[in-house]
Amino acid sequence: MLKTRISADWIIYEAMRGLFNTPFLWYHGAMDNPPAEVLTGALGRLPRVRLGCYPTPLHRLPGLETALGYPGIFIKRDDLSGLGPGGNKLRSLEFLLGEAIAGGADRVIVSGPGQSNLCTLTAAACARLSLPCTLIHNCGEDEPCTGNLLLNRIMGTESIFLGEVSAAERRSFEEQLRGELAAKGLMPYVIRHGGTSGTGALGYAETIAELRGQCSEQGFAIGTLFVSGGNGGMAAGLIYGNAVLGRPFRICVISVEDRREELREHIEKTIGEAALIAGLPFPGDLEDRCDIVDDYRGAGWGLNTPECEAAVLSFPSREGIFIEHVYSGKVIAGMEDYIRGRKIDGGVCYLHSGGFGSLFSQFTNPPPRDRFPGS
Ligand SMILES: Cc1ncc(COP(=O)(O)O)c(C=O)c1O
Repeated sequence: MLKTRISADWIIYEAMRGLFNTPFLWYHGAMDNPPAEVLTGALGRLPRVRLGCYPTPLHRLPGLETALGYPGIFIKRDDLSGLGPGGNKLRSLEFLLGEAIAGGADRVIVSGPGQSNLCTLTAAACARLSLPCTLIHNCGEDEPCTGNLLLNRIMGTESIFLGEVSAAERRSFEEQLRGELAAKGLMPYVIRHGGTSGTGALGYAETIAELRGQCSEQGFAIGTLFVSGGNGGMAAGLIYGNAVLGRPFRICVISVEDRREELREHIEKTIGEAALIAGLPFPGDLEDRCDIVDDYRGAGWGLNTPECEAAVLSFPSREGIFIEHVYSGKVIAGMEDYIRGRKIDGGVCYLHSGGFGSLFSQFTNPPPRDRFPGS
């Protein structure tokens, strides 16, 4: 299978591997288009559990193409990653929980707001792996049991509600719990910083190889990939994978939370960690074929903008695919603005990162019946 796709690049890579036994220091510069095996080979040495159904689908968005008069708009469906409500973080969890199991963990602890997508996806992944999981939320137990909270309840996941405390207080409780369990002889594994770490980011690096392969199989010409930037873990992994594979795509990271410089710092730090873990240096500049943009974040995480609100309502009415307010709505609003303003040319692709569970908690009132979608 692999051998049928052998290329001159691959032969050079194999030759260098044999010659120097430090292959990854050498392939840059020697290859314009390094084979996916450069990356998959490095990742293959890391502990991992298979959780998702990959490759996730890639298809056109005909309704949006018509509405914007722009042929060549695609979507990569990481919302259909195959476990729980789906979503991007499943790619991270394959490596994080792989590390947990390899280290002998007998319990996973993760924390987040009540509607945290990571918490629900971790609970689903732990259910699949028969690994006990504890969720810690900085919200009250009386928070309406809807969206992700309802999914957690259905799965029967142990959940601790700290009330309205800050994220820092939530994290310190997390460490306290870890210490208490360890003192009892247990081996808890804590998923910190929303799963954003070098290990977690590596889950997305492979997405670039996956997408490049799908483009060539399906005959799609995609130039730019639009993705969301929260903590920056997903963006870091994608930018890293893209650079290692010769930058087949331009990546446009739409911040949904922090200002550009802050997000850039998170991404840079996470790429550094990922490169060390994978043993593949990051070639070139962070912002070569990569834009980090904070024009669509509004006042920050979870704070809506009118453009995001419009996207959350118009996108499903055109495509039959749901997006939510915190992550996808802002990215779609940004991508549409790029397309409308012709700030871009060539095929564009939205990486749908999921968040479906939280959508059900995001409406105080249902949208008005008499609106005209997309107007
Ligand atoms: C649905 C969804 N999309 C995107 C992101 C952003 O990922 P990151 O925090 O790695 O930037 C998150 C983060 O929780 C998420 O839940």
